[in-house]
Amino acid sequence: MAEQADIGVTRLAVMGRNLARNFARHGHTVALHNRTEARTQALMAEFGGEGNFVPTESAQQFVASLARPRRLMVMVKAGAPTDTVIDEFAPLLEPGDMIVDGGNAHFADTRRREAALRDRGLHFVGTGVPGGEERALHGPSIMPGGSAEAYASLGPLLEDISAKVDDEPCCTHIGPDGAGHFVKMVHNGIEYADMQLIAEAYDLLRRALGMTPARIAEVFRTWNQGRLESYLIEITAEVLGHTDAATGKPFVDVVLDQAEQKGTGRWTVQTALDLGIPVSGIAEAVFARSLSGHADLRDASQGLPGPAGRSLGGSAAESFTDDVEQALYASKIVAYAQGVHQIQAGSQEYGWGIDPGAVAKIWRGGCIIRARFLNRITETYSGTDQPVTLLTAPYFREALQAAQDAWRRVVSSAAELGLPAPGFSAALAYYDALRSPRLPAALIQGQRDFFGAHTYRRTDRDGAFHTLWGGDRTEQSA
Ligand code: 6PG
Repeated sequence: MAEQADIGVTRLAVMGRNLARNFARHGHTVALHNRTEARTQALMAEFGGEGNFVPTESAQQFVASLARPRRLMVMVKAGAPTDTVIDEFAPLLEPGDMIVDGGNAHFADTRRREAALRDRGLHFVGTGVPGGEERALHGPSIMPGGSAEAYASLGPLLEDISAKVDDEPCCTHIGPDGAGHFVKMVHNGIEYADMQLIAEAYDLLRRALGMTPARIAEVFRTWNQGRLESYLIEITAEVLGHTDAATGKPFVDVVLDQAEQKGTGRWTVQTALDLGIPVSGIAEAVFARSLSGHADLRDASQGLPGPAGRSLGGSAAESFTDDVEQALYASKIVAYAQGVHQIQAGSQEYGWGIDPGAVAKIWRGGCIIRARFLNRITETYSGTDQPVTLLTAPYFREALQAAQDAWRRVVSSAAELGLPAPGFSAALAYYDALRSPRLPAALIQGQRDFFGAHTYRRTDRDGAFHTLWGGDRTEQSA
């Protein structure tokens, strides 16, 4: 075949189709392939004029149409279909060629696939491509893993089609093998936490102050002019301001209140548990979705007693909206601090060398958690003097200091009114636990030693110790 395509996209469902169009719109020649040819033809009929496409009819023709080293992008639902496509194409490729997986794969699968293909001389690049179909076409944030050698060949193309903020591409080489998918996973975990915190803010304004969804939409619109400016706050105002055409009611009141999840938030928490990283904000968000779906449990609990007071009045009500903004901002800082901690831990565990500042930078555009405040995270990690936790970086420390009184009022009002705010409460508890010079973990160590002789360490000398609890209570070196 005469035409040598810069990149090929196989599987042309909406994500694949839009990425292919995005490459073509940026002047790249794109080979197209799909299991059923009809989709390839439909793309050509509708969008063929957008750029240079090379439609192909078979896997062999597709591979032959690609310039070397071949860059072959796979857009399938994560899981077994990814392995099927790899099995289909790997035998047709030659050393130095690369398969790029843009699905939401688990990073452990990406590590496995990368290792297997590396053994065959092929590159495998697992990359996060967030933002859905709209961003796939108009510029997503892109989080590629895989080898530096693969990035040298593939990176310029990905950077071309990525979102741009301040003229900088929202795409960078995250690190080897599964690093890209790991970071995409944590992105989704933070997305869960952010959404939960926003939902709690809405619920508190509604139930503590009796505000209507339309009025709360205005509040979110105002917040979106300030430091909370972000895609999620923006769309929250849209959803809350929407009226259901069939009933004339606020849309949010006709939607079943059971949140679903495809699983990436759960993966984030499972992985954090394995790494021993406390991502309590993300965990509470996953559990809140899970709780919402337990209809039987919730039905059975409707008669449980709550507090007498049901809404705020007087001066507390007046300042409550501002307090909620402060609590939301502070809790959001904690969620990101926990996410960054997990990325650092993953990077250390797997030797990825991930730069959290670079990650925050490419999240500023083209993804669901894009937000103004990410600039601050990038700034934090761009200097040499990097904090152990985001919370102690000067900007965040000051923001937390300014917010903390309001944050505490919101959490205590929620508890007094009987309104669940697991995200706000968990974030505050994390903050206070980190601040505490001493934690009751010392007592837990004592209990463990009492019932299981699990031993403890002392504050005043090295070594492990055990007290003879059942005997004369003398202490032994263990
Ligand atoms: C993205 C999102 C996406 C996620 C969906 C739904 O960046 O485009 O993170 O990857 O899968 O938003 O996720 P849940 O069904 O788990 O809410």
